[in-house]
Amino acid sequence: MSRKQETNFEKKPPLIFRIKEKNTIRKAAKVSKSIFSLLNKEYLNRIILANCSFSEGHGARANYLGLGMLYYSFVHLLKAKVAVCLGSGGGFVPRIMRQAQRDLDIEKCSRTIVIDADKPELRYGNPDYLHEGSFLRTLFPHIEIIVKPTKEGACYFVENGIKIDYLHIDADHSYSGSLSDYQAYRPLMADNFIITLHDTNLEGVAKAVEHIRNKEDLEVMDFNYLWGGLAIVKPKTAPDIPISPQDSFPVSIDQSRRFIIFLLKKHAPKLYDKLKEIDESIRRDESSMV
Ligand SMILES: C[S@@+](CC[C@H](N)C(=O)[O-])C[C@H]1O[C@@H](n2cnc3c(N)ncnc32)[C@H](O)[C@@H]1O
Repeated sequence: MSRKQETNFEKKPPLIFRIKEKNTIRKAAKVSKSIFSLLNKEYLNRIILANCSFSEGHGARANYLGLGMLYYSFVHLLKAKVAVCLGSGGGFVPRIMRQAQRDLDIEKCSRTIVIDADKPELRYGNPDYLHEGSFLRTLFPHIEIIVKPTKEGACYFVENGIKIDYLHIDADHSYSGSLSDYQAYRPLMADNFIITLHDTNLEGVAKAVEHIRNKEDLEVMDFNYLWGGLAIVKPKTAPDIPISPQDSFPVSIDQSRRFIIFLLKKHAPKLYDKLKEIDESIRRDESSMV
């Protein structure tokens, strides 16, 4: 049947959908009276931003995530099973990575790994989470901490055949240091990956980003004007992503409605006729009331 031949019943949402919509509105209105925010600000301030040095370099402040919003989004988008952070003073990026995995309900089958060699001589001091009772280790006990130079850390992934979905580079900020981190970890990335490099407003990191942009088959976007600066690196061509049933593409309400009508007509024609009849009588009543 062509679109033109569709009956009124098929074109406008039938009664069954309108009842469903009304129920959804009623329930949503109830929730919106008590919860106003997608972000839980108390959780943000007490868990994500508390005892978190260097978070300002990512633009984070009270009630505000700054670049953290992007780190969260990348884990969320990729449903990242393995998220890795190279270098972190206070664990800001690792906690956001882990939080996103928790929020996706993939906590048990996912990993967030930090690799930091504890190099206070690089003027950043010691990372805050080295001792057992630290804030990060207590509140995020499943974040794995590898105290090693990033190069040695890369061997761990090679030896264990682990592919990384999302990598954040924030360790050695020199040109050779940041570029060699990129080069050591690039082969360890999954097909559908995202890499971010922090502090692109530092000369060394900016130069490494330009090198990556010119040499590789990737797309690079550099928000170097936002706080410390952040470059995002992704594959240029669409990766070959296997789609599991629960990851199938979302369909619009209109598509779902058409599909249900198709199923009704095919498998329950009597029910289809009855619904159509009720729907038309309601429409007639409604139009006579106008
Ligand atoms: C303090 S962070 C820089 C601040 C950062 N923006 C943040 O969010 O914490 C840099 C960290 O990288 C670590 N680091 C530097 N060079 C490294 C290397 N080659 N391997 C491993 N860690 C390194 C330092 O120990 C330091 O903790």
